[in-house]
Amino acid sequence: MSKILVLAGDGIGPEIVRQAVKILDQLKLQGCHLELETANLGGVAYDQEGSPFPETTRKLAEQADAILLGAVGGPQYDDVERHLRPEQGLLDIRGHLNLFANLRPALLYEDLAEASSLKPELVAGLDLLIVRELVGGIYFGQPRAKEIKDGRRWGYNTMVYNEDEIRRIAHVAFAAAAKREGRLCSVDKANVLEVSLLWREIMEEVKTDYPTVELSHMYVDNAAMQLIRAPKQFDVMVTSNLFGDILSDAAAMLTGSIGMLPSASLNEDNLGMYEPIHGSAPDIAGKGIANPLATILSVAMMLRYSLSLEVEAKQVEEAVMQALTAGARTADIAKAGETIMSTDEMGDAVLRAMRTV
Ligand code: IPM
Ligand code: MG
Repeated sequence: MSKILVLAGDGIGPEIVRQAVKILDQLKLQGCHLELETANLGGVAYDQEGSPFPETTRKLAEQADAILLGAVGGPQYDDVERHLRPEQGLLDIRGHLNLFANLRPALLYEDLAEASSLKPELVAGLDLLIVRELVGGIYFGQPRAKEIKDGRRWGYNTMVYNEDEIRRIAHVAFAAAAKREGRLCSVDKANVLEVSLLWREIMEEVKTDYPTVELSHMYVDNAAMQLIRAPKQFDVMVTSNLFGDILSDAAAMLTGSIGMLPSASLNEDNLGMYEPIHGSAPDIAGKGIANPLATILSVAMMLRYSLSLEVEAKQVEEAVMQALTAGARTADIAKAGETIMSTDEMGDAVLRAMRTV
C-alpha cells in the first residue's frame, strides 16, 4: 500500500487537486494500492493551525511515500511575518524532507502549439527538462535579514553552495540527460559570482562520470534569452534554486500556459513531492476556471518516480494527450472560438480518457 499525502493548499489549490484526486481514485478502481491522506500546508495551515508547516503535516509527510501539493499563498498573507507566510511552509517542507532535486519538464503538446506565446515553428516538438536545485542557494543561505543598521534599512540574502550540494544535483541532471538526448546545459552567472565558479567546476568534475553526455555552460541572462529565441536547442538544463525558479516560469509559457507544467521534487531516497509549477492564482481562485492539467501531470510524475507505476504514469499522460486532442480546453489554453471547459469538466475529460486508454 502506498501512502499519498495530499496537500491542497491555497487559492486554486483545492480545485485543481480535486481533479488530480479523481485520477488517483480511478487508479484505485483499477487495482492500484493507494491510500490518500490530507493535511494542511501554506496559508490554510497558518489559518487553522497557526503555522504554514504544522507538526501534524510534518509527521504525515515523513510517513508518506509521496506527496501531492496544489499551491500555496495569497494576498491576505502579505503582511504576515516572513517565517509564518505560506511560501515559508513550502520552503520548510522542501527543506525538511531534503527535496533537493526539482524536475520541471516543459513539453509542448502538439495540439497546443498555437497557445504558445512564441511562433508555432519555434516551439513545435519542444521537450526540455529543467533540473533545479531546490533546498540551497539564495533561498536558504545564511546570513539573511531585513534590519536596521547604522540608522539605515538593509536587506540581504546569501547565495551559497558547498560542493556536495552541487555534486548531488549535477548527478541527477547528468543521469537524466544520459537517458534523454545526452545534452546538458548548466546555467550560472560565472562571469560575476564566485558561487557560480564553484558550480561550473563541479559540473566539469561530475562530467567525467557521464561520458555520453555533452556538457555546455551558459550565463543565466543569455539562457533566458535563448529560451525565448530558440528553446529547442535545449535538452536538459541544470541550475541553482533562484535561476531555476525564474527560467522554469519562462519555459512554462513556451508550452502555451503555466497551467500545463508539472514538477517533481525528490530527495536521495526518491521520496517526492509533486506539484504544478504555477502558484495559487488568487485572482481566479474559486471560479472553477483554473487548468488542472499541471496537477494531473504531476500525478503522472509521482506514479513514475516515487511509486514505480510506469504503466499507470503513461496512462495518465496518454489520457491528458487524448483529452487535448479531442479539444478539451480550459480558458488559458483555448484559442478564439474554442469551447471553454471548467476545471471540473477538464478533470472529467481526462478521467473519461483514462478509462479508454
Ligand atoms: C515555485 C514557486 C515557489 C518558489 C514559491 C511559491 C516559494 O514559485 O515553486 O516555483 O519560488 O520556489
Ligand atoms: Mg516559481
